[in-house]
Amino acid sequence: MARAYIIPKSAHVALTTSVMFRGPRVTITEQLGPDVWPGVKTTLENLGAVYVIGTSGFEFEAGQDAQALVTDALATGRVWRVSASHGYVATPADLAEHVVSMYGEIGGKADGPLEVLEPSAGTGPLVAAIVRADLSDQARCAEIATWMRVTAVEVDERRARQIPSSPAVKVVRDRFEAWAARTQASGKRFDRIIMNPPFSVPGDAQLWAKHLLLAWNLLAPGGRMVAIVPACITEPGYGPSRAARAAVELLHTHGGYELLSPDEFDHAGVSVITAAVWFDRPLVDAPVPRMVADLPEYVARPYTGDEVPVQVPRLFLTRGASVTMPVQAWRDAWRGGTVRVLRHRGSCIVCERLVWAFDDGENDPRGALGDHAPELLDPAERAGMPEALPVVACFMCMNDSGGETYDRAWSAARRYWGSVVAARQSGWSEPARDHAAERAGLFAELVMAGAAEKSHGAARERARTAPAPVYVSGWTQDALLDLDGQ
Ligand SMILES: C[S@@+](CC[C@H](N)C(=O)[O-])C[C@H]1O[C@@H](n2cnc3c(N)ncnc32)[C@H](O)[C@@H]1O
Repeated sequence: MARAYIIPKSAHVALTTSVMFRGPRVTITEQLGPDVWPGVKTTLENLGAVYVIGTSGFEFEAGQDAQALVTDALATGRVWRVSASHGYVATPADLAEHVVSMYGEIGGKADGPLEVLEPSAGTGPLVAAIVRADLSDQARCAEIATWMRVTAVEVDERRARQIPSSPAVKVVRDRFEAWAARTQASGKRFDRIIMNPPFSVPGDAQLWAKHLLLAWNLLAPGGRMVAIVPACITEPGYGPSRAARAAVELLHTHGGYELLSPDEFDHAGVSVITAAVWFDRPLVDAPVPRMVADLPEYVARPYTGDEVPVQVPRLFLTRGASVTMPVQAWRDAWRGGTVRVLRHRGSCIVCERLVWAFDDGENDPRGALGDHAPELLDPAERAGMPEALPVVACFMCMNDSGGETYDRAWSAARRYWGSVVAARQSGWSEPARDHAAERAGLFAELVMAGAAEKSHGAARERARTAPAPVYVSGWTQDALLDLDGQ
């Protein structure tokens, strides 16, 4: 939502006495103090001018009369953001640094340079945060180019001109839509995409969602996309347009988010609640069928222990990954490079958060799993039903200080186990329940035992007679052995 920016008194004075106008250009003729400069910059930017770094100057669009625009604004004492200026709102440097360092996963790649895309780069604050260097330092950029290459697309020539091209940063002056179509057709994909897209422009209130979806199509399998977008993307059911609905779904399936402070873009006179969102594209796109399709999501997902894990460079804990790569093998640098196998176990019975667990049982929430760390509710322990399947909850719900979610988890689990007993006692009359309960019985022993039970002959034998899950992977057990031996 845009609101009027009240021109501070000091900026009013500076824009009257310390400027020179020439066609679309404004030059600041005196050094302004840190208490005056932000007001001058915000006033001119909200009018639609672009700051030309290193020149004390601003540039309006060709053909515009800078003097007339500034004089009119000073006469009213306030300025409305120019919505026609391609939805420009710069990301403050500290926010850019936060989202990139927190979610960007920037680092070298074994097989060639990390390809990074900023699809609507403005004057480049996110690019600077990605590169973490002075963009005009050519020698430093040449060094960076040995392991990372950033492509910065920007439609506005005045802004694009302010991002120095170098071996590490390629600046493309184009509409993202047109460039994305050509790039997608060419087959090129990016390992990381980091963006703060235009939220809305006249005639398109949901441009941000379209840019997000276009960018997703350019993300390489295993890639990470990070975006600053309106916080409505986090609201299930939000959907004023097809693109917005698809963006909400994309976040639900492949991502996570952090709500940003409501005053994050106050500097630009914009009050909009935003979120930093991230998305992981699974390494494989084909879904892996669940072995027991009828079981609720909160029942511990059964495995035979024979599944071939997908080798991952980092953990993928999203809903999408739980469908396409529920078993992952990850080399944990913190544990001396040990290869650890991770399995999707289900969704927390209280909060529905996805829950994952390592086969080695080291599932501390302060480690790689964070909030996704598991707790298995054992039916033998509280319900006296050793033959039933365990129920999953997340560490957060099972360790709440008041014990409220802990109690809710156990009572919901007991209800589920009770329903399994009821189905059994009713003579398996309902086909769906029949199937679920039968499977529950069949796999209970396996699930309780987990993958460590690989040598458990009888259990394995029974598992063999069950429909085999198809694990899609470009990887084999031999590869795992090779990896271990490295
Ligand atoms: C919200 S600003 C953010 C700029 C930059 N990403 C940042 O974080 O500061 C959105 C930018 O997208 C640019 N833009 C708008 N429409 C575009 C399009 N169709 N293709 C590429 N860039 C576009 C605008 O010129 C503006 O610089």
